[in-house]
Amino acid sequence: MDISPQIAVIDFGSQYTQLIVRRLREFGYFAKLYHPDSFKDSPLPKGVILSGGPRSVSDENAPDIDLDHLLGLDVPILGICYGMQLLNQKHGGRVEPGTTREYGPAELKPEGGSVLFDKMSESSRIWMSHSDTCTQLPEGAKVIGRNEEAVPVAIQLSEKVFGIQFHPEVTHSHEGKAVIENFLSLVDDPPRFNIDSFKEMLISSVREEVGDREVVCGVSGGVDSTVLAVLLHQAGVKLRPIYVDNGLMRKDETAEVVAQFDQLGIKLEAIDAGKRFLDGISGIDEPEEKRRRIGNIFVDVFFDAADDVELLAQGTLYPDVIESATSGSIASTIKTHHNRVQRILDLQEQGRVIEPLAELFKDEVRALGESFGIPREILYRHPFPGPGLGVRVPGEVTEEKLKIVREGDAIFMRHLKESGWYDKVWQAYCGLLPIKTVGVKGDERSYEWAVSLRAVTSEDAMTADWVEFPAELLRSISNEILNSVQGINRVFYDISTKPPASIELE
Ligand code: XMP
Repeated sequence: MDISPQIAVIDFGSQYTQLIVRRLREFGYFAKLYHPDSFKDSPLPKGVILSGGPRSVSDENAPDIDLDHLLGLDVPILGICYGMQLLNQKHGGRVEPGTTREYGPAELKPEGGSVLFDKMSESSRIWMSHSDTCTQLPEGAKVIGRNEEAVPVAIQLSEKVFGIQFHPEVTHSHEGKAVIENFLSLVDDPPRFNIDSFKEMLISSVREEVGDREVVCGVSGGVDSTVLAVLLHQAGVKLRPIYVDNGLMRKDETAEVVAQFDQLGIKLEAIDAGKRFLDGISGIDEPEEKRRRIGNIFVDVFFDAADDVELLAQGTLYPDVIESATSGSIASTIKTHHNRVQRILDLQEQGRVIEPLAELFKDEVRALGESFGIPREILYRHPFPGPGLGVRVPGEVTEEKLKIVREGDAIFMRHLKESGWYDKVWQAYCGLLPIKTVGVKGDERSYEWAVSLRAVTSEDAMTADWVEFPAELLRSISNEILNSVQGINRVFYDISTKPPASIELE
């Protein structure tokens, strides 16, 4: 499925590019990111934004655009930072390296009444991040805004082409939204992106793509796979949703997921493969090897069940697609995704994988889920790792340790839900610390395992901070765990930030 964008954002590698797309979508414009090289072959947009980027326009092999093609579209164009410098240079102006990298807050003072700063204050806080500067403008261009030192930070190159030396997409630019809105007012196309209209488009494109073939999809009980299964179900296609119980799920989780799907009118094919997984990782204490085995067994179990799969649906989201497709060599990091295994790559090559959510960000997937009537409890569940409790029981995994973690986690989660903390944290869990320490039980000494409670706040799981729960809450959780979970005599609360710790224990 490839829905044409209203606004194309050309990605020159800035860390804020996804944010630009999100802002445009918030204004009701369907925006997509494009690599500078693939932009020329993409569907014609009604407006173009050139993102910022870490490079200098004078670098050898600096990312470039075809200006004739761009201007030939005859649509409003906004260059941000690198985008502005590139536009300036390609129009015949001069760009030179600054002596220092300017990073942080500055003031924008609009001048000349440009439409880009319509209804904005005489001076407003902006967020800069650049090292090059436009030292000479091309003929016909004019300055439309300066900073507090009277240095030009905004230019207009022609009637519909603008450049700004700051980031309107970040909230540190106080009137950034107004800049984006003013730019969008020039676009000759009304806003028409909202979840309801998008849902209709998705449903009809899924129907068309799938036809009368059977679609298999893996369901984990998490947000993405649930919304995906419900979308396919609503589209009325022949659906086989498969849930693999790897024996590393939380307390009562499988029964709950099956029941939740029943309520949504979907009959899950739940495969109880717990023994196969636990046998497969028995005696393994090296974390990477454990992960690898869990991953391999999952693929084996899944494709044993879906051997004759005609079409496989995956819950890939837009940020995954962006990372692998647009940024390419420009962005500094590219993740490898755990679902890119050979069997799936083969199916992909044969055109037998569909990714209906691949145009959407996580919050848009949640909004779609809400419009399908999926309970909040599912849509706002904390992330749960693919290898399940396997990464919350460091070292060798045994039934005894899993039982401890399941019981402890259920108590922890109940307290968080009852106290209203569950929705305030990114992720929380009870893990096992594989050390035995001495305690007192009745008149005797005990020698038992310890559990570790972890709760973090985070934006994207790349960095995380631990949560400062009230001491009373921690005390009640600890008391209940110590009183009712067999096999432990200590509860620790993990106060490590990420980095250097990770969120999971392995
Ligand atoms: P770490 O432990 O690396 O975790 O700080 C970051 C986020 O990723 C989740 N996680 C996983 N998710 N498969 C997944 O689907 C995995 O193998 C995996 N490992 C970690 C983790 O729960 C946290 O949200």
